[in-house]
Amino acid sequence: MLNKKLPKDFMWGGATADFQYEGGFNEGGRGLLSHDYETNGSIEHPRHHTMKMPDGSLINPRSSFIDAEDVPDEAMPIFIDDQYYPSHQAVDFFHRYKEDIKLMAGMGFNVFRFSICWSRIFPTGEEEKPNEEGLKFYDDVIDELAKYKMQPLITICHDELPMELVLKYNGWASRKVIDYYVKYAETLFERYGDRCKYWLTFNEINAIRGFGPTGVRKSNGQDRYQAAHNMFVASAKAVQLGHKMMKDSQFGAMYAMSEIYPATCKPEDMFFHLQEHRENWYFIDIMGRGYYPNYAPEVWSHHNVKNIEMAPNDKKDLMDGQLDFISFSYYRSNTVKDGDKWFNVGGSTNPYLKETPWGWPVDPLGLRYCMNEIYDRIQKPIFIVENGMGAIDQPDDNLYVCDDYRIDYLKEHLSAMADAINIDHVPCLGYTMWGPIDLVSLSTGEMKKRYGLVYVDMDDLGNGTLKRVPKKSYNWMKRVIETNGLALEE
Ligand code: BG6
Repeated sequence: MLNKKLPKDFMWGGATADFQYEGGFNEGGRGLLSHDYETNGSIEHPRHHTMKMPDGSLINPRSSFIDAEDVPDEAMPIFIDDQYYPSHQAVDFFHRYKEDIKLMAGMGFNVFRFSICWSRIFPTGEEEKPNEEGLKFYDDVIDELAKYKMQPLITICHDELPMELVLKYNGWASRKVIDYYVKYAETLFERYGDRCKYWLTFNEINAIRGFGPTGVRKSNGQDRYQAAHNMFVASAKAVQLGHKMMKDSQFGAMYAMSEIYPATCKPEDMFFHLQEHRENWYFIDIMGRGYYPNYAPEVWSHHNVKNIEMAPNDKKDLMDGQLDFISFSYYRSNTVKDGDKWFNVGGSTNPYLKETPWGWPVDPLGLRYCMNEIYDRIQKPIFIVENGMGAIDQPDDNLYVCDDYRIDYLKEHLSAMADAINIDHVPCLGYTMWGPIDLVSLSTGEMKKRYGLVYVDMDDLGNGTLKRVPKKSYNWMKRVIETNGLALEE
């Protein structure tokens, strides 16, 4: 049996995003986010925003983060009575953070990744002064974590923008948003810098190549890749500032890493695979190595990008504001073949892998593969900041869930991670599983797609007591953490 015990300072924890977890959308002076207008959905019925045109007619652009489809400039988002908007209540961490943190600490977590809601701090994004009530909420969360010796890992921006910045500036397509972001980040560093060492500037920034999160109204490649450039610069400026303001601070950004395989060894499939892979590396290389790679024009050509506007200091900022570690989410792998569309997730099937009910292939070895690949290339420590299995749980009358399938998934993935660390010697700072307490799905807005080790009594329309009940996997995870991985060998 290969040794699964992890290094003694390994960080174990969970990860969440404000608009999927926190709720309290109209409390504590919080402003509106684009996610607040997103309806719930399912695989069959994509989420959408309801928007009103000047003549009063309604349109429903399909959307995750507003830029998944072209939205006319005149369209304004509105709430409709008979629609359910999952971010409003989410699963109410806003009021239940003490209970949730205690539950997480009960498993031995020593780190908790959460995102700060930008519009809780700057309700429109443009205020001169931050919203004190918003700052105080996260003070309380961080202090509560400290009681259990858990450290925060803060995502500064998880796929979101205050709605005003989307409407007024076309989101990240405007450089103006860089200044607002830097001011927001500076506010967080000032307030929480004494208690937070690890920061992520953006969540899944490479998702820009296929869907959000840039807050632009047109889904064309030109706006999208310009927005990405502005986000790279914003991240680099925040990293430089953070390093100045907080002596020991460490910065990552978060990438959606679906390991990509070629469907066959046919040279054309292999070459397509190389190019598709570079579409992801584009983001990691620029932020992790500090410069645009040689293959950037080739990537732009896939998305009809004519020109990326850069300010004179941008190149220097990118170089000086490189990330300290590379963090990523890993749920699945993908298989591609020549002629597939770019970013054709799930386009070709992998006959060797089983899938979840949402069609996500389950591939633990893919995790070890991509940990190695990232480290080989960037040579900076890595941090797995999301992983888990969205599954349909069947609670009994006491709301207890016997989730052996989740234990299997986590055991296989954690074992693959341990192998990457112990056999391949990939330096890995820690592991924060996705959604330790059940929360709302990002892609479908459902509650049915659960990742948690703790069940939350709530259905897809927000009905339920919101009671928290540990699942079978809760005690299993507790034992894995207690033994620092050794229990994976049982
Ligand atoms: C990541 C996101 O893409 O995947 C999370 O950072 C998201 O916000 C997670 O929830 C899982 O995706 P989903 O669609 O199953 O919630």
